[in-house]
Amino acid sequence: MPAKAGAADREDIVRRIVSAAAALLSLVVGAVAAPGEAFAPIDAEEQAAAMGGGVNIFGYDPGWDNPSMARVVPGHFRYIQAAGFKTVRIVLQSFRFMDGDGTLDPKFFAVLDPYLKAALDAGLTVILDEHDFDLCAADPASCREKLKAFWRQMAPRYAEAPNRLVFEIMNEPHGAVTDAMWNDMLAENLAIIRATNPTRNVVVGPGHWNSLKSLPALVLPEADRHLIVTFHYYTPMEFTHQGASWAGPQFVNLRGVTWGTPAERKILADDFDAVKTWADANHRPIFLGEFGAFEPAAMPERVKWTEAVRAAAAARGFAWAYWEFDGGFGVWDFSKPGWVEPILDALIPPAEKAKP
Ligand code: BGC
Repeated sequence: MPAKAGAADREDIVRRIVSAAAALLSLVVGAVAAPGEAFAPIDAEEQAAAMGGGVNIFGYDPGWDNPSMARVVPGHFRYIQAAGFKTVRIVLQSFRFMDGDGTLDPKFFAVLDPYLKAALDAGLTVILDEHDFDLCAADPASCREKLKAFWRQMAPRYAEAPNRLVFEIMNEPHGAVTDAMWNDMLAENLAIIRATNPTRNVVVGPGHWNSLKSLPALVLPEADRHLIVTFHYYTPMEFTHQGASWAGPQFVNLRGVTWGTPAERKILADDFDAVKTWADANHRPIFLGEFGAFEPAAMPERVKWTEAVRAAAAARGFAWAYWEFDGGFGVWDFSKPGWVEPILDALIPPAEKAKP
């Protein structure tokens, strides 16, 4: 069947030319560096201090498949900045935009770039977080290839972007991605990133869902001082994930769990002290990349927990990002539209909001 194969080859060549041209176009159109703001190295500690408080955003938005259906729009970053947040963690599920060779569809960048530009233009620090963690947990071999392909394309593309753009290698390794395998994955992706971004700050977290308990198992290249270490905090799960079907059958019908006894507050303090002890011993700044309580919990309880976790992070000098902007944990309510004031006040106390 040589004739058919030839036609298929030609089709493939045409497809590749079209996709290369589209990638080039989106590279030009989607330039992200604000005029006059070239990349300049910044200490990881200084960057984490500047990151302050932030919010996770755009992960599960229908706008990824159909921009006209987007819930979050680039204009939201101005509201986020005006409310007192300094950082956004943009959640990327990129693998489904890849072809068989791992090449990202230009559509992915066509969606991402206007958001990235708007967030940087709003003065925010932007973390680009690869969030295909569940696919990785189920099939690490295929994930490893895709993750490397992702950073091979992302790192050179944004190498000139301002230092307020920070990469996060991957969210919450778990399942078949053991702590040991994760250390290898971190090393291989960091090497890819460092080839074009030798001094950009990169967020890396421990295994087991970015658990603070796995911090001692995290292996980082000692000489790389441009790393910010992340962990996620949803303790106690029975409180933060009551009613959360994805967390496991035992959470589905849980309701009415409260939080805030002295014993529970001590667990929080001890946990965060353990992170601080690790950070001081290893000379790494810390970013609490996710924390939040799902909406079936009573609002006053959610506020109490959110305020306590935010304060525990701030007291130890950790940057933080709330999970998440909209949805079941949301600090933004699209039905208003507007802020969920009690959650916003727990994150950005009104007295701090008033500060310049
Ligand atoms: C996941 C979300 C989930 C949240 C809290 C995030 O890392 O991507 O799907 O809602 O954690 O469980």
